[in-house]
Amino acid sequence: MSTTESILEEPQAFLPHASVAAYAAISGMDAYRALVAEAERDYPAFWARLARETLQWKTPFSSVLDESRAPFYEWFRDGTLNASYNCLDRHVEAGNGDHVAVIFEADDGTVTQVTYRALLERVCRFANALRTRGIKKGDRVVIYMPMSIEGIVAMQACARIGATHSVVFGGFSSKSLNERIVNVGAVALVTCDEQMRGGKALPLKNIADEALAMGGCEAVKSVIVYRRTGGKVAWHEGRDLWMHELTQAEEGTCEPEWVNAEHPLFILYTSGSTGVPKGVQHSTGGFLMWAAQTMKWTFDAKRSDVFWCTADIGWITGHSYIAYGPTAIGATQVVFEGVPTWPNAGRFWQMIAKHRVTVFYTAPTAIRSLIKLAESDPKVHPDRFDLTTLRLLGTVGEPINPAAWTWFYEHVGHSHCPVIDTWWQTETGGHMIAPMPGATPLVPGSCTLPLPGIMAAVVDETGRDVPNGQGGILVIKRPWPSMLRNVWGDPDRYTKSYFPEELGGKLYLAGDGAVRDEDTGYFTITGRIDDVLNVSGHRLGTMEIESALVANPLVAEAAVVGRADDTTGEVVVAFVVLKGKRPTGDDAIAIANELRAWVGKEIGPIAKPKEIRFGENLPKTRSGKIMRRLLRSLAAGEEITQDVSTLENPAILDQLG
Ligand code: PRX
Repeated sequence: MSTTESILEEPQAFLPHASVAAYAAISGMDAYRALVAEAERDYPAFWARLARETLQWKTPFSSVLDESRAPFYEWFRDGTLNASYNCLDRHVEAGNGDHVAVIFEADDGTVTQVTYRALLERVCRFANALRTRGIKKGDRVVIYMPMSIEGIVAMQACARIGATHSVVFGGFSSKSLNERIVNVGAVALVTCDEQMRGGKALPLKNIADEALAMGGCEAVKSVIVYRRTGGKVAWHEGRDLWMHELTQAEEGTCEPEWVNAEHPLFILYTSGSTGVPKGVQHSTGGFLMWAAQTMKWTFDAKRSDVFWCTADIGWITGHSYIAYGPTAIGATQVVFEGVPTWPNAGRFWQMIAKHRVTVFYTAPTAIRSLIKLAESDPKVHPDRFDLTTLRLLGTVGEPINPAAWTWFYEHVGHSHCPVIDTWWQTETGGHMIAPMPGATPLVPGSCTLPLPGIMAAVVDETGRDVPNGQGGILVIKRPWPSMLRNVWGDPDRYTKSYFPEELGGKLYLAGDGAVRDEDTGYFTITGRIDDVLNVSGHRLGTMEIESALVANPLVAEAAVVGRADDTTGEVVVAFVVLKGKRPTGDDAIAIANELRAWVGKEIGPIAKPKEIRFGENLPKTRSGKIMRRLLRSLAAGEEITQDVSTLENPAILDQLG
């Protein structure tokens, strides 16, 4: 039985709406299968065709995939291009300069629109300003910015001159920012005076000043500041520069730096299973090609669309589907500064109606929290708003539970917009497993099938395929163009984390568990298999939070685990042993609050434990290993059914439970 036939028998399957299928780039399962077969028949030829069709190359490539230094794969290596040219100039040259590139809605509702021509001019002025400051190809620039047109301009300007950007999410603390500036070896920092979210101002420039004062940032010679609120900031003469003053003095045109396809476009830090975040390094050609191609396939996006991705530019989703993907295909997009619940929880629905959004891409956490708020207040229910312009919905970042999927489908998509559940990661650069809207029958809770060319599989601990229906480890069997190229400054970590010897050294290890449906082969992601948590779609390493906790002078030992949560997917639960007496009552509450604030300062508010439990010790084996599985059960309030015979100190369970 074919995938489509067996899916048709699923009571829960949603078939592509005829209007969607007619419009789609991949129309019908036969078209999807033809692309899958094309990739299987001649893998390099398939990718070469897409790369030629999607991007404009300055020098065409002759080498498609070079595996000679595997797992350090190279794609299109002798081709040259410029990412900013592909995202901006190309559209202006084609006569689409007046097309709106960005509709920016500020926290307070003020709307600003920029055309492709205007965006290009702003990028050129800023690129020239960077060059005037001596910043050149290969230099690293850290961008610590709120959601803004200026944030996108800064990213594109770096790309234009061949500088590699590293965007740090505006919610990270000064310490996290400092660590990233030092690790990446930045020569410049782009930030803003204050960020506005939910009516509150956050002093980004102050945090940046603190980060720079922590040491190791001597190479940062320029701090370029976007004036957002006009709030008071400290000023270091000679180092600090206003973005508007710099750009006013520059020309509105700027010759792009033509770079090799493998030139690092950006480095983005993400959490892994150690205490130190890893700098995921992406290429120019492979990354941009897939950002553009997936816009066309997964979202069926066209220039006429009004695309809205609610992610932040500080995460990979904001790189692939705000800064680069939508601009690479010349679409119009909404960029939002604020939060979904301010001034009320109808903000998303109101903005979709106001800007006539056609494609809406958001996170399951946001949907789940808006469901709760809409059910308790009819004024912010999506049914109250005109959402008729929508034709496609997407989700990313964590598994979406069928109930939230169905609500999103019915109340936001009016039962005719496909809900595209996209599985991918910082490391993959773009979508990997997702339904094709005009082809794949949808099953709530499953991200369905791999994109054409993506060789996803489920294997056991030795790297052997497991049969459908049996859970296992999610891997990608062949390199693909938008994969990460390295962990910045740590090639050994790249090899060990992503191409482990235990799996034979050739499979890309995603770090997720998965199971494929017995009949359809559809993938369902079962969650991380390493020490990485997913809180509201944000990726956090348990070791990072543990390191932050033990850095506090009161703390002797700490272990962090995740607990399932209806709204945020997971929450952080910390088990802590203090150097002094185990606190109880009000003391315990006060110290827990102090430690939460401490983690907020060390990493950022997103990493704050929801709950902290104190013990005189942690559950350990006789050899001293912390029994994390036990801690997970304790955090979840489950009865302990595991074997505790190897536990050195069983009495501790009562204290921590
Ligand atoms: O566990 C998977 C989960 O998010 C992880 C990647 O996190 P990050 O690199 O921050 O990128 C998030 C945005 C792409 C994955 O290893 N994840 C992401 N998308 C899904 C998902 N889990 C289930 N379903 C998804 N659609």
